[in-house]
Amino acid sequence: MTEEELRARFVKPAFPRSARYDPRWALDTLMGPNVLWLAEYLSQAVELKAGMRVLDLGCGKAASSIFLAKEFGVTIWAADLWIAPTDNLARIRTAGVEEHVFPLYAEAHALPLPRGYFDAIVSLDAYHYFGTDDLYLGYVSRFLKPGGVLGIVSPGVREEIATVPKALAPYWEPDFCSFHSPAWWRRHWEKTTLVDILIADFMPDGGKLWHDWDRLCADAGAEERQRQRRVARLRAGCRTAPLAKRRRRSPGRGVADSGQRRRNCIVARKAIT
Ligand SMILES: C[S@@+](CC[C@H](N)C(=O)[O-])C[C@H]1O[C@@H](n2cnc3c(N)ncnc32)[C@H](O)[C@@H]1O
Repeated sequence: MTEEELRARFVKPAFPRSARYDPRWALDTLMGPNVLWLAEYLSQAVELKAGMRVLDLGCGKAASSIFLAKEFGVTIWAADLWIAPTDNLARIRTAGVEEHVFPLYAEAHALPLPRGYFDAIVSLDAYHYFGTDDLYLGYVSRFLKPGGVLGIVSPGVREEIATVPKALAPYWEPDFCSFHSPAWWRRHWEKTTLVDILIADFMPDGGKLWHDWDRLCADAGAEERQRQRRVARLRAGCRTAPLAKRRRRSPGRGVADSGQRRRNCIVARKAIT
């Protein structure tokens, strides 16, 4: 693929801030979605102002953390389980935001952070790995200030999958059980009475953007290059992540083929009590 074609497919009118970033950098930090698009979309729903303290939970390779720090002047705690903070620090330094983004090794259920500290918690393509637990919102909301905002963009489905439909059976992976509809997330959070729901909806064109990005990554050979880099690092004796857990392939391809695939955007404000 030529650089011109890559750029043309990377630039989307809905995401003018993301369009200013290098598509090759986005591919190099790839962990599934184009997280710049997700972060830019979420930033339209969660007000971010310079100086705010933001936790980017499940930040992966910290691309969203770098993006939000650069675009909005917020201070970010970039927390992740699979990606080593030392690797993220290198990316954060190269991006010139070392004073504003703090990389952190963290398991989502044992956050080494003070309570009542954050103005916002964002989680992009990550919250569904831990946040479907009934008790999780009660845990994570402790880290927000009263009135602080939690905003997630996660893979979703058009409607709840009660039993695996025939069309999906050949592709089914247990991870898909964590894909829900916005209505499910609304109920899941509302019944805690801890937050006021501001948004529980599909990201407009979320399924199509996901599809476009998957195609772009495949045409640019991004997944194969990532695999080769990982093999080279392993041969050199480096572990790229503190824990060995790795996803085998982009999730949800079968869900996409069934026409079910969506992206959810759920935003809530912690109650002031
Ligand atoms: C699909 S990746 C997305 C990463 C990044 N947000 C992005 O979109 O590029 C999911 C991320 O969730 C993180 N994650 C999954 N389970 C976690 C847990 N229990 N605690 C902290 N992070 C977790 C992983 O470390 C991984 O980086």
